[in-house]
Amino acid sequence: MRQEQYRMQKIDKTDSVKAGIDKINFYTPNHYLDLVDLAEARGVDPNKYLIGIGQNRMSVAALDQDVVAMAANAAEPILSDDDRQEIGMLIVATESSIDQSKAAALFVQDLLGLTADLRAIEIKEACYGATAGIQLACDYVRCHPGRKVLVIASDIARYGLDTPGEVTQGAGAVAMLVTRDPGILAIEPESLYASRSTGDFWRPNYSTEAFARGKFSEEVYVGMFSDLWDKARQQGLADPEHLQALLFHIPFSKMGRKGLRTLGNGKISEANYNRLTERFEQSIVYGKEVGNIYTGSIYLALLSLLDNDETLQAGDRIGLFSYGSGSVAELYFGTLQPGYRNRLDAQGHRALLDARERLSIPDYEAMFSAQLVTDGSEQNLERSDSAAGASHYLAGMKKHERRYR
Ligand code: HMG
Repeated sequence: MRQEQYRMQKIDKTDSVKAGIDKINFYTPNHYLDLVDLAEARGVDPNKYLIGIGQNRMSVAALDQDVVAMAANAAEPILSDDDRQEIGMLIVATESSIDQSKAAALFVQDLLGLTADLRAIEIKEACYGATAGIQLACDYVRCHPGRKVLVIASDIARYGLDTPGEVTQGAGAVAMLVTRDPGILAIEPESLYASRSTGDFWRPNYSTEAFARGKFSEEVYVGMFSDLWDKARQQGLADPEHLQALLFHIPFSKMGRKGLRTLGNGKISEANYNRLTERFEQSIVYGKEVGNIYTGSIYLALLSLLDNDETLQAGDRIGLFSYGSGSVAELYFGTLQPGYRNRLDAQGHRALLDARERLSIPDYEAMFSAQLVTDGSEQNLERSDSAAGASHYLAGMKKHERRYR
């Protein structure tokens, strides 16, 4: 009863300015690497990857599925004609940018056939970028009745062949339509955030692969989560009794698990810890198959939880811990909305994952090493995914320009 009252209070609290996620979908390329194959090829015990890292597979992007194509493929299925007219801002969050000047959002606007009557921008701050986009979008729709914001997180995680980070690569995009009176998750205006310059992970402009101080990056991630959690507790925003799930940025599932484990050992009650752990297991189902999609990872965790958990209900409150190396972190909260299940396509998402083709190690290495031309010559690309939901792809390069279809 107390819990029900609390839920209703929360819903009421956000009622006057309710903003949040109205629709959500993801796309991942249609090739994957099985991590047991990778372990064998690298001479590693497969359990290190399956248990120690906590991943089973990773999606691998062919050249025609760059961040623009993946972003458009994630968004295309959820947009109605009305949505296309009402979108006042298009945000593409990525750290796998294709241009130093022009926003990826402009290419995506074109592919999705959106009107010219919008702001199109790209946001970068490692894996935190999409959360900045979501918060900006919520503020925008609160001030602009009748307008919507399309936020798309799209990334390809690359560390290099035979590096410690190789097993934590992945590729994919998550598209979210942010509106007033959202149908899935109403996001609370109060949140906790922190920024601190750290050298845990970075990618210089000249490099197609990221560099990481792996163990240090884990420490920073866990430290920033603990700081924000403690602050949220002090401010009365993170009462574990009334938190039905806690989502994490998932570069690999063990990382989120390490964050969650900081709440064990008596920091919250055993019953609350067990409930959050059960829900956490549902939130990593998709990520374990797809790998790190950087800024979309936490939203893939949200989608995984909503698609796979059968016990959550409208009014349940969820926490989201977003972390981007470098580093910016934010802990925020949202409430599930009545009828949210009807707005999900769990079957379609599972079908997308199941339709992927398994790569041999030589094919994966060839796909990973393939590059677009950089000398201005013409390059035509073969379409890698014509069946499993990819209506958009990069057709090639000409005179240093990307040509999409
Ligand atoms: P590593 O050197 O392979 O680590 O690098 P390890 O040897 O310590 O092994 C990893 C785990 O496997 C350990 O467990 C081992 O005990 C266990 P832990 O101590 O961590 O709990 N293990 C085994 N378990 C079962 N059976 C076995 C076995 N052998 C070992 N036989 C590392 C791992 C994650 C550091 C590396 O992959 C890496 O550098 N990854 C990239 C960086 C990264 O993902 N950092 C995460 C935090 S930062 C972040 O999330 C932001 C990011 O997404 C970027 C952005 O913001 O844009 C990365």
